[in-house]
Amino acid sequence: MPDTAKAQQLAQSHEAVERDPDAYWLKQAERLDWIRLPEKANESSFEKADFGISWFADGELNVSANCIDRHLATRGDQTAIIFEGDEPGEGRTLTYRELHEEVCRFANVLKAEGCKKGTRVTLYMPMIPEAAIAMLACARIGAVHSVVFGGFSPDSLADRITDCESTILITADGGRRGGKRIPLKENADKALAKCPDVQSVIVVRRTGDDVAMTDERDVWWHERRGEVGAECEPERMNAEDPLFILYTSGSTGKPKGVLHTTGGYLLWVTYTFDTLFGADADDVFWCTADVGWVTGHSYVVYGPLANGAKTVMFDGVPNYPDPGRFWETSQRLGVTIFYTAPTAIRALMREGDEWVTRHDRSQLRLLGTVGEPINPEAWNWYANVVGEGRCPVVDTWWQTETGGAMIAPVPGVVDTKPGSATKPLPGVMPQLVDAEGAVLEGATSGNLVIAQSWPGQMRSVYGDHERFFQTYFSTYAGKYFTGDGCRRDEDGYYWITGRVDDVINVSGHRMGTAEVESALVAHEDVAEAAVVGMPHDIKGQGIYAFVTLKAGVADSEELRQQLKTWVRGEIGPIATPDALQFAPGLPKTRSGKIMRRILRKIAENDTDSLGDTSTLADPGVVDDLVAGRVSGS
Ligand code: WTA
Repeated sequence: MPDTAKAQQLAQSHEAVERDPDAYWLKQAERLDWIRLPEKANESSFEKADFGISWFADGELNVSANCIDRHLATRGDQTAIIFEGDEPGEGRTLTYRELHEEVCRFANVLKAEGCKKGTRVTLYMPMIPEAAIAMLACARIGAVHSVVFGGFSPDSLADRITDCESTILITADGGRRGGKRIPLKENADKALAKCPDVQSVIVVRRTGDDVAMTDERDVWWHERRGEVGAECEPERMNAEDPLFILYTSGSTGKPKGVLHTTGGYLLWVTYTFDTLFGADADDVFWCTADVGWVTGHSYVVYGPLANGAKTVMFDGVPNYPDPGRFWETSQRLGVTIFYTAPTAIRALMREGDEWVTRHDRSQLRLLGTVGEPINPEAWNWYANVVGEGRCPVVDTWWQTETGGAMIAPVPGVVDTKPGSATKPLPGVMPQLVDAEGAVLEGATSGNLVIAQSWPGQMRSVYGDHERFFQTYFSTYAGKYFTGDGCRRDEDGYYWITGRVDDVINVSGHRMGTAEVESALVAHEDVAEAAVVGMPHDIKGQGIYAFVTLKAGVADSEELRQQLKTWVRGEIGPIATPDALQFAPGLPKTRSGKIMRRILRKIAENDTDSLGDTSTLADPGVVDDLVAGRVSGS
């Protein structure tokens, strides 16, 4: 049943933002505590001549003060973070007051290590409260954090440290996920062998593993914590000062450092968290994402805390110790709003309803999903089995680049359709365009672009503003191109169909085909490699690699496994190819360009419709490739 008051409110918001966007956003900006209230709102342009993204440029505020200090008077003793470790029940909680003290102390330790406003700090952490504490401590003193997912390899970590010239690394002795040990400090040491500019490593004790500490460089957080004061004044930050960098994969080259700034980002996550989840003092909000990804930034840390909510940080996996983990933990912690990825839903659905129904879910009131398209079957299972048909499902479409949710149903107001993220939030202007950039109207399919800036939009690719423009604003002049394909139905609902560029979405994690290819060709036996996505029942998409070996190297099952392990070691487990086919030749045009369209069809096992192959230098390779197709793991 639609809630009429809320429906009216939403309609008014849409109307208000269309009529006078700046006035609307300046009003929304009052959700935050400003040191200096902005009078300017949107000063962005997507055009080449005066390109730039800027919001609230004359405003001043501090993100950590907004996430913590302003709640102290009203809810200092309320829980802020509920930590749930890998073992069920292993955890602790922090109130807003406790969080304040920890963040201040951490900020003071950072300062003592030479960290200042603008210093880049890399985090390589498990999902423990200290990850959020360290992020907020950076924000408190104006340092720019770059969180690198703990599943990335030492090389990937080193690349990301080097790219943003971090001088400080925060890590832990180790992590534990699904009962397995993750050697974070050991990996960090390997990475740091390539990063001479890192002067200081702050190590949080998590597992108690015996780890090597380098004199002069490495310090234990628990030793330093008591040596510094419990108060730290938040730094006065301009709304457009950088808040964080987060690396994400694109269709070409190395991962790029997506840069978000202070005011617009914080407003976007505050606004979308409240609009979509509306958590109040009785709610317990659980977003299962890792802080290594944008969802963890926006909806584990910044969005919930800016709204004064209770947020769960989970350092485990959905199927450990058994596939009932999410629901057992939800029941025990009193979770009311649950937000996860379609991959997890599909994996759990396969285990059977029993794992869900044996736990009491009467406290759950809202379910969310993010990260990849959700198939209607998984959506219905989530809504009806997990949500007992009474919890709305909020499918949120957004990206690292957008800062927070963009297309999603406001619960209780926008009717849902299984598999559709429904309609844009107020202030979001999606359009569908054809290959030439012509705007398509009505029920149609096309490439998804956003026609106007919104406060949470990324501001740059760190260190390469030109690449920012080229990547997102040059394909369709004057518009932000998302890289996604999309269908709009007769009711104006949006159905994201997936990436149309060379990005593969594996279990909701973005992987660039170029990255996997360069990892493969770095192996001594590989001459050439081409990587495409393939459909995968659980992961949504899997990684399919075509590999040409160097002359004289014989293929074998052993080498196939070796190459998979190699990629895993080079990038991290999420990049492991699901299928690897040895290909004596790749389909190339006469000018030497690999025709990926053909490789995609083979990977999808859709070989009846390979299309025109007459422009290939050697059409014969296609038959060999079709004959040699392998199935995925
Ligand atoms: C995909 C994650 C369909 C999409 C927040 C996008 C989705 C990419 C959805 C961004 C959704 C995310 N439905 N597809 N609800 N949410 N995507 O940067 O292809 O890790 O471009 O951000 O994930 O992934 P990213």
